[in-house]
Amino acid sequence: MSKISVSSPSNIALIKYWGMSDTKRTLPANRSLSMTLSRCVSLCTLETLGDSSPDEIYWRGEDGTLEPADPIMRLGIEDHVRRLRQCSDFWQPLRIATTNTFPTSAGITSSASGFSALAFAFASLFGQLPSTDPLSGLARLSGSGSAARSVLGGFVTWPGDADDPHSPARQLAAASHWPLHDIIVVVDGSAKATSSRIGHQRALSSPFYQRRQQLLVERFRNLQHAILARDFARVADIVECEAIELHLIAMSSVPPLFYWQPATLSVFYRVQQLRRDGLDACTTFDAGPNAHVLCTPEHYPQVLAAIRELDGVQQIIQDRIGEGPQVLTQALF
Ligand code: PMV
Repeated sequence: MSKISVSSPSNIALIKYWGMSDTKRTLPANRSLSMTLSRCVSLCTLETLGDSSPDEIYWRGEDGTLEPADPIMRLGIEDHVRRLRQCSDFWQPLRIATTNTFPTSAGITSSASGFSALAFAFASLFGQLPSTDPLSGLARLSGSGSAARSVLGGFVTWPGDADDPHSPARQLAAASHWPLHDIIVVVDGSAKATSSRIGHQRALSSPFYQRRQQLLVERFRNLQHAILARDFARVADIVECEAIELHLIAMSSVPPLFYWQPATLSVFYRVQQLRRDGLDACTTFDAGPNAHVLCTPEHYPQVLAAIRELDGVQQIIQDRIGEGPQVLTQALF
């Protein structure tokens, strides 16, 4: 029997993957660019079991006890493990336990961290690693494209190359290049009603979708340059434009997907005001109502203080740019 424990981070997209070119292979219609997070990570322990045992799948709750994973989580993990097995041809039964260091029901994507952790643990356990390209491809087998980016730290691009079977993510710059903070402002902690997968499919019905694809070519290039030059003002303009456009496409899809809430916009307005007052801060959103406020270390205390004064905020998670997956010495069981 062998056993491994790992952690893998979540990430926030600055150029969003929204729309697929190939749903079967989970390939994106456009390039995306993300920042890997440090505090929002998933932990996963895998242990091989005797040949005839069934797989066991557990969730570790906040009190530290293991409980059988709920049916939806179980299904997601079983599907991903089945695909990992098909790719690797390792069929040994497994005991799997997982948990997140951030509130799972807070509407912050945990699929990127959870599925990349499972792929990393699986591949490590069976001695297949640690090269990044296959790992990125294995994480994406889950159906969560953003999981492909979580296998790397810092600023990460996912070109979505259809000719490469791994279609891996690539590191643009290490976390040490620019230690940005991400203040995650939870304004609604409930799970979203429509999955990203449906959002990706529906995006194509927006009358603005094709125009977005054209605009993205230059926007992507500009954002890469701005990050490499640590030019916050340029980053902020592009990141906010991109955050609005994700929701513009979602809202104009047929039928529409509407994620924003009043407090979502309060955060956005307040951060724009802070920027006009000279602070390095900007807002982005995932496919949900919660806001990610990016800021430089120099201005972080002032930005955080301003966010804390806003009404309608349920929770603030103080995160920052971080590293990719790690092997851990402590197991979940
Ligand atoms: O990885 P998925 O299939 O959950 O889709 C991610 C969609 C966004 O979070 C909205 C954008 C992104 O690039 O992460």
